[in-house]
Amino acid sequence: MTQKKFYITTPIYYVNDKPHIGHAYTTIAADVLARYHRLQKEAVFFLTGTDEHGQKVEQAAQSRNIPPKQHADELVLRFQALWRQLNISNDDFIRTTEDRHRRCVERVLQTLWDKKLIYADTYTGWYCLPDERFWTEKEIVEGNCPDCGRPVEALAEQNYFFKMGQYQTRLKKHILDYPDFIQPESRRNEILGFLENPLTDLCISRPKRRLAWGIPIPFDPDYVTYVWLDALVNYISASGFEKDSDRFQRWWPADMHLVGKDILTTHAVYWSTILMALELPLPKRLFAHGWWQVNNQKMSKSLGNVIDPVEIVKTYGLDAFRYFLLRQVPFGQDGDFSTEAFIQRSNSDLANDLGNLLSRTLTMLERYAEGCTPHRLEDEKEQDEDRDLRQVVEALPESIETRVAQLEFQKALSEIWGVINHANRYIETAAPWQLAKDPSNAQRLQTVLYYTTETIRIVTILIAPFMPDTAEEMARQLGLPEFPPALPLTQASQWGGLSPKQKIAKGQSLFPRIDTGSQKGKDQQSNAASPKSEAQTAPSTKTEITFEDFAKLELRVGIVRAAEKIKGSKKLLVLEVDIGSEQRQVVAGIATKYAPDALIGKQVVVITNLKPATIMGVSSQGMLLAAGAETVLGLASFQEEIPAGTRVR
Ligand code: MSP
Repeated sequence: MTQKKFYITTPIYYVNDKPHIGHAYTTIAADVLARYHRLQKEAVFFLTGTDEHGQKVEQAAQSRNIPPKQHADELVLRFQALWRQLNISNDDFIRTTEDRHRRCVERVLQTLWDKKLIYADTYTGWYCLPDERFWTEKEIVEGNCPDCGRPVEALAEQNYFFKMGQYQTRLKKHILDYPDFIQPESRRNEILGFLENPLTDLCISRPKRRLAWGIPIPFDPDYVTYVWLDALVNYISASGFEKDSDRFQRWWPADMHLVGKDILTTHAVYWSTILMALELPLPKRLFAHGWWQVNNQKMSKSLGNVIDPVEIVKTYGLDAFRYFLLRQVPFGQDGDFSTEAFIQRSNSDLANDLGNLLSRTLTMLERYAEGCTPHRLEDEKEQDEDRDLRQVVEALPESIETRVAQLEFQKALSEIWGVINHANRYIETAAPWQLAKDPSNAQRLQTVLYYTTETIRIVTILIAPFMPDTAEEMARQLGLPEFPPALPLTQASQWGGLSPKQKIAKGQSLFPRIDTGSQKGKDQQSNAASPKSEAQTAPSTKTEITFEDFAKLELRVGIVRAAEKIKGSKKLLVLEVDIGSEQRQVVAGIATKYAPDALIGKQVVVITNLKPATIMGVSSQGMLLAAGAETVLGLASFQEEIPAGTRVR
């Protein structure tokens, strides 16, 4: 059987400035897909690179007073260094100033010229200088570019045109015949809407006297190639179009072009019609993702709010960053970046849920299984709670496969975290520390340890494409004999694959909690953080109390078993909290900070002897300890696994 192949690309990035979170976003998403398909044992070709010609780059070089090639040579290093830092597993990196690319662009132009699909004409119309795009009178909006909103200028000049318009019907048919070709659906509809208007021909040249920095047009040395045609060709020049037809046959068409929503038209319309003219198959899928804003504002240099991925990763760690970008918003939609949201996710999902699950399980294996992975005990009857856990874990690999195929990274991660939280709850219910007290429970204890460890093994495999370093470290601590697994990911993550009697190696916690207190100093320097109200941090002016006063408080460790919003309130949640001896209903004003689902299984500290109160018609028998005044910054809890009901003093 021939090995399935997967060819995935990112846009090639302009080398006019240093890379930001938007660039990191597409490249990380592409990396997750590339890694996922590699783990499925497919042959993967993952391409990224830089777009080095055109006006933007020429101007950036001019402003630095250096030749454009020198500018590109310097700036490309920042992208390459960032991809290394972000653990990007690209197989190739193409620069449009490379010979292999130039030759390919020349061949494309010559072919289209020979086929009489390019002609010379005088263009009169509107031009957006920053976007390097021509617009018709009808398209411009009150004298501005319909895309970026900046003023357009009137232009009349002799140029070369590609007969794009003649492919309109064919392109429309292709989009209709292949519903998956453009995704998400809303973007596909946008392109279909765009194609309702007559499709004009595409100007593919720029006179050298106006723009010198580009690939010369092979049949007219007075012109250079329009930067978008030049750039789009990278997808075939890197896969061997001009040079190596076997290689090209193997990889083309690309299985997936990932792009931002702003550059979908150039891909769906320009690129598709160029490929039609070259008689080459179209890429199988184009997926346009949303844009990141920062604290609900557009990211821009002038606002000084551009998020530098290098800084984020240095401060909070790589896998927390990779996780946040893909977990926070659905891939096709716009997202908002704030340091607060980042820290909250990292602390709750990574430090609390995943980190605690691993560390408490390894601690139990050390204590109750001689520091080794457990056996599954065949004669022990599976109890309801075991079966429930096994069934959700068994359903996971296939579901993740579907989610990843649909680029539903957010759903994939939230399903994995659903399982992580299920396992945390399972541990609470099965209470291995109680079982350990009575030797007659030895078999039951081993079964509970097996179910928990097997769940973590499967989680480890499934998070590997998203968080490769974390998965590797988890595999090491769990003593998995083979990582990444030799079997395809979906098979390797089937229930029952845990090798018993492997020595575990409990290490440092995967994700130390980010201390929001110490974060404050950093936040003040960083524009990414939202300002904190004074009340959160002002020194206390309250009068002193005696120890006896303090001793009146009864504080206990609790575990949240259920949580839901209180109708009509933005702030309030009603929680069921297990405090050991009983389950308490507690109303807490934490809805702006925590989603109800994120709280399940979470350890909290409860004031258990507070007089019951009725809040918005809901009875509350206790209170949770939390940091912050009007705005809750976080719930108090412990790093260690502590049984529910334990006194806190
Ligand atoms: N050079 C062209 C692409 C040519 S591909 C043949 C280009 N480069 S770019 O550097 O300006 O942008 C590259 C990608 O970054 C685009 O997909 C764009 O959508 C993405 N982003 C730029 N800012 C972004 C955000 N704020 N958020 C998410 N992605 C964003 O366009």
